[in-house]
Amino acid sequence: MRIFLTSSKDEAWDIASARIIDTAFEGMKLGVATGSTPLGLYARLRQAHAEGRFSLAGSSAWALDEYVGLAEDHPEGYRNVLRAELVGPDKTGLAEEDLHTPDGSATDLEAAATAYEEAIGSVDMQILGIGGDGHIGFNMPSGSLASTTHVGTLTQETREANARFFSGDVSSVPEKCLTQGLATIMRAKEIILLAFGREKARAVAELIEGPVSAFWPATVLQHHPRVTILADELAASELTMIDYYRAKNDW
Ligand code: GLP
Repeated sequence: MRIFLTSSKDEAWDIASARIIDTAFEGMKLGVATGSTPLGLYARLRQAHAEGRFSLAGSSAWALDEYVGLAEDHPEGYRNVLRAELVGPDKTGLAEEDLHTPDGSATDLEAAATAYEEAIGSVDMQILGIGGDGHIGFNMPSGSLASTTHVGTLTQETREANARFFSGDVSSVPEKCLTQGLATIMRAKEIILLAFGREKARAVAELIEGPVSAFWPATVLQHHPRVTILADELAASELTMIDYYRAKNDW
């Protein structure tokens, strides 16, 4: 794991966007996360596209997950969130048909999960955030470390955390989701995980220094050969070896 402690979210977004822009190629498969954490990164990719330095035209983007049961036009449906961030010549050049998201409105959700798993293969670069309980995608604590794309059930903690996107109303946050599994995420060729704020500190400490455990799903990334963690000072605040990571900051 490469661990890079940043003094701000902006610095983390600058570093992550530079890496993606440097390694981008036409036809690349970019794995994209939702949540608030990657928003500044997407803004930088849009800016780079506006300046002619980056384009997802001819490439594809693959969502980690999707809620089950939201109306197709619900603004918090992850397809709609990612479309607003990335799709179109005024965003990153990504074509609508090249944005892939699990079909949370399918009548046969198991079939939709299998179809997504088969379609995704492996992405070239995966952007990740992390939940306060260490979840990535919507892989909740206690799920299988070897899971593939599946129908999942959100914990009450995650529904409460995500209620901020639903006018604070927990009851509006779906209970079910479709999510890439941990084994799906592990097939990515390279992974950049961003973590900001005190509420992520325990999860970041477990991710980097804890034992690999299904109870802290992100710890599976310790088995991945090419992961970079970009954490701000608050998210890094529970790390035991913080001085060492600071000293070697070797992006
Ligand atoms: C949701 C998403 C995750 C994301 C997490 C953290 O659960 N499914 O992909 O990492 O939220 O969200 P935030 O970045 O807003 O803290």
